Amino acid sequence: MNAIIAPSILSADFGNLKDAVTMINESAADWIHCDIMDGRFVPNISFGFPVLKAIKKAALKPLDIHLMIMEPEKYISELHVLGADIVSVHLEASPHLHRTVSSLKEKGIKAGVAINPHTAIMFLEDLITDIDLVCLMSVNPGFGGQKFIEHTYNKIYQLKNLILSKNSRAKIEVDGGVDVSNAGRLLDSGADVLVAGNAIFNSENPHATIELLKKTSRNLSEV
Ligand code: DX5
Ligand code: ZN
Repeated sequence: MNAIIAPSILSADFGNLKDAVTMINESAADWIHCDIMDGRFVPNISFGFPVLKAIKKAALKPLDIHLMIMEPEKYISELHVLGADIVSVHLEASPHLHRTVSSLKEKGIKAGVAINPHTAIMFLEDLITDIDLVCLMSVNPGFGGQKFIEHTYNKIYQLKNLILSKNSRAKIEVDGGVDVSNAGRLLDSGADVLVAGNAIFNSENPHATIELLKKTSRNLSEV
């Protein structure tokens, strides 16, 4: 199966947000990755619900919402009303993670759990069969355009083994520092979803870069 490509809108020109969403709509990308930051869980503030609503209105593809906020459970109803498709909450930001995940699923939202680079895969053991996605952070969350952390390959491998051993259907998403140079190895290691911000929006031809990421997956899936 081909990898799912999720361009991160964080690296788009916010003065022309609609153009960025249109570009994704017309591209080979699958999801639109939206990074919500609160200035508490991460040392940066990105955008909130009014902007998310504008993105949703223009989007023809599912919104993959990555909440980098404390107390994410407070916003599930609002996300439901907005029409969120996939929502990832950080394990480090939600002490009652099972309850949060259950609330997302009750609302018909696909539930993801994001983990920081320092968080061990074993903390997902008792939840892996309840979730649809694991967002593996391959940079410390908070900013686009950071350097990919090499240890991520190892974590993908461990996570893949956990998923297989528990018969889970969770997808593995890699977020941070992903580009055309590491996409192949990430997919080989077991990644299903590639998030890319800087590599797409700061490339000369975002359409072509998305195409290239998508092709990388296709080549590997044929091996
Ligand atoms: C980082 C965000 C990422 C970010 C990825 O905290 O979660 O989604 O936008 O951007 P790049 O691909 O530029 O590392
Ligand atoms: Zn993200």
